[in-house]
Amino acid sequence: MSFTPKDNYFYKAKKQGYRARSAFKLQLIQEKYEILKEGDRVLDLGAAPGGWMQVALEYVGNKGKVVGVDLQPIESLNNKQAIEIVGDVTDFDIQKALMEYAPYNAIVSDMSPKTSGMKLADQARSLELVEMAFGIADEMLEKSGSVVAKVFESPEIQMLRKDLHKKFQRVELFKPKASRKESFETYFVAIGKR
Ligand SMILES: C[S@@+](CC[C@H](N)C(=O)[O-])C[C@H]1O[C@@H](n2cnc3c(N)ncnc32)[C@H](O)[C@@H]1O
Repeated sequence: MSFTPKDNYFYKAKKQGYRARSAFKLQLIQEKYEILKEGDRVLDLGAAPGGWMQVALEYVGNKGKVVGVDLQPIESLNNKQAIEIVGDVTDFDIQKALMEYAPYNAIVSDMSPKTSGMKLADQARSLELVEMAFGIADEMLEKSGSVVAKVFESPEIQMLRKDLHKKFQRVELFKPKASRKESFETYFVAIGKR
């Protein structure tokens, strides 16, 4: 019996102590783009159960900070550098709480809407979440900072890509190998806020 990539990443995550197989997506993005640096302050949107936070903590080290927020509680990472917040990033009070740790050197978002199975509706909700992530970056990301943000593929994301070019020096779409082949997700990587 042969293992699919899904099985490989699932077991690899378990073995390496990551809470989610998605941890490898951020690792692959990091290997290619080197977004996260030692001492960075990182905001992780849609962070539960905490796999991306675990990866980010490895890169920022003991002088950095990783603030994670999710609708779902994030079990404590037992790390002085980590802050776990429960809430909706579209909520103004939550944004105020995130602002307390700003400015950030990097903002990463793996936020996904609850999928309905209706492609157009799911694409639209995903687009709203990625626009929210970049809206937060407008307010809380330092100049020259970077954003990684998941979005479901759709024709509209090319329009967004054009807009983002006005705000960032480099903007790419990247689908890490750890994403399931059948998935429509891809990631905006926007480097160097102007
Ligand atoms: C794929 S999971 C994130 C996995 C995470 N990156 C990890 O490695 O553990 C997507 C998350 O986005 C969260 N999410 C979706 N909409 C959100 C919102 N408006 N505010 C906060 N979190 C949200 C969901 O609750 C879900 O936990």
